[in-house]
Amino acid sequence: MLMKFIPALLGEHNLKDYARAREEFDFQNVEKEFSWYATGRVNIVYEAVDRQVEERGLGQQVALYFESGDRQEEYTFGRLQSEAARFAAFLKKYGLQKGDRLGIFMPRSPELYISFLGAARLGVVVVPLFEAFMAEALKDRLGDCGAVAVVTTPELYPRLPLEQLPALKHVFVVGENVPAGTVDWHKEMSLVTETPPMEWVGREHPLFILYASGADGKARGLVHVHNIMVGLLITARWVHDLRPGDVYWCTADPGWITGIAYGFLAPWLLGIPVVVRGGRFNAEDWCATLAKYRVSVWYSAPTAFRMIMSGGEELLSRYDLSRLRHVLSVGEPLTEEVMEWSLAKLGQPIYDTWWMSETGMNMICNYRCMPIKFGSIGLPFPGIEAAVVDDEGRELPPGKIGNLAIRAGWPAQFRAVWNDPARYEEYFRYKPWFMSGDAAYRDEDGYFYFQGRLDGVINTSGERVGPAEVESKLEEHPAVARAGVAGKPDKLRGEIVKAFIVLNPGYTWSDELAAELREFVKTGLAAHAAPREFEVKESIPLTRDGRVDRRVLREWVLGLSED
Ligand code: WTA
Repeated sequence: MLMKFIPALLGEHNLKDYARAREEFDFQNVEKEFSWYATGRVNIVYEAVDRQVEERGLGQQVALYFESGDRQEEYTFGRLQSEAARFAAFLKKYGLQKGDRLGIFMPRSPELYISFLGAARLGVVVVPLFEAFMAEALKDRLGDCGAVAVVTTPELYPRLPLEQLPALKHVFVVGENVPAGTVDWHKEMSLVTETPPMEWVGREHPLFILYASGADGKARGLVHVHNIMVGLLITARWVHDLRPGDVYWCTADPGWITGIAYGFLAPWLLGIPVVVRGGRFNAEDWCATLAKYRVSVWYSAPTAFRMIMSGGEELLSRYDLSRLRHVLSVGEPLTEEVMEWSLAKLGQPIYDTWWMSETGMNMICNYRCMPIKFGSIGLPFPGIEAAVVDDEGRELPPGKIGNLAIRAGWPAQFRAVWNDPARYEEYFRYKPWFMSGDAAYRDEDGYFYFQGRLDGVINTSGERVGPAEVESKLEEHPAVARAGVAGKPDKLRGEIVKAFIVLNPGYTWSDELAAELREFVKTGLAAHAAPREFEVKESIPLTRDGRVDRRVLREWVLGLSED
């Protein structure tokens, strides 16, 4: 096969020479850019919002363009600063203190971002919860971290299993007609008369706990700290190429790492305005958003690109996308078909970026100053060392597929798994490496190629689904004796969730039962985790120690083996 590649765009980018940067770059130099380097006073909210107002004269500049349904609003850095301070006062009134955990469970809205900033401003630790989560997923996550309060909406409120969350003292509700026994977010905000000063924290103080699915049943609370800012600032500049005058749109939801790290924190550290679009995905609306806000840098995912592709030939031609100068992708393999489409229709390549919730920042990327090789996730960010290692942590030569590993100790690295030090240690079992759980190989030029997950974690439309969580949910249904769940390759979504099930005696398979099981997972766990395909089996393959044998399931979904 002829290796397809796109040459470097020399001379018009922030990261001018990758090889040189690899030699000379040191994260310690990035630290000098933060105010705390001189003052010793740390808070990411100061760096991302207050500082833009206090030190850079950006108080009047738009930080957030929000659009959802009928709502269209703009927030300047100045307004975000004052609203965040009000929310901090509000939290304080309800007794929240530095280190307490606050859940944020709501669809995208300005109040979500204000709540995040206000909490972090007070040193309170944010626990973002994706809006699709249902009672059980919420109980696991809010229960595990012992959240004392949660911000939500009247629509989502009924999903909170309050009686099963003994630590939860307050529910703050954003919207009209707040339920009895809850606190009206807007009313409380309007009552604030005095705001507390910025709470200075340590660089290692927790900023947020993000629950991510792994191969085992329990979602793990990945702890990120204020120091994540060091990784975010420099990747915003060198990977996303953000510069004054840009309008940035990262389409990810703030219930996931991308929507937090790059959805607002990273661009705001550079004083760059972001677009946030609520509502469901719609190809037409998305193109309209790109044009309307004159988006210049766009960070999205292959599934979204494919959905826009399927919107038809002329969809893009109806919008003026001439401002778009840099497009990036994350979360799933960037296929050649998407790349060809972008070259033809957007007139530019898409820059793939590889990273995970655990890494906190972009890790292996394509940069404007280097040639892109089709199919490759790129080269490690300067200052980051990546390798392919075998099952004992020994480095493998180019061309060999193994575990994608990162040398531990980068600035945005997650610092703990909440309540579970053993699971944290497991990621670092082969010192000095962090084991990503992804399979990859490297070529002679040092480019990395993603080859799928090693542990059965499913990636559907870029969203991480833990197979064991879905299996145990299915097994709660009276019809299901045993379940085995795996990702099946899918042209649109990358992978779909496929469930193999063994029925209990007395049940027969039908389309109705399939619909019922789908709904059961959807309402019990989360919509994105519900299997799109089922197959009835006589038995589910188990390993010698009685766990579901993911290797065999993998063969089943690929049609390589029948039993
Ligand atoms: C996958 C999302 C292919 C990978 C930022 C990883 C990718 C998981 C890419 C993390 C990419 C991420 N190409 N696959 N460019 N980037 N992945 O934690 O399997 O939601 O382990 O973080 O997404 O998902 P997470």
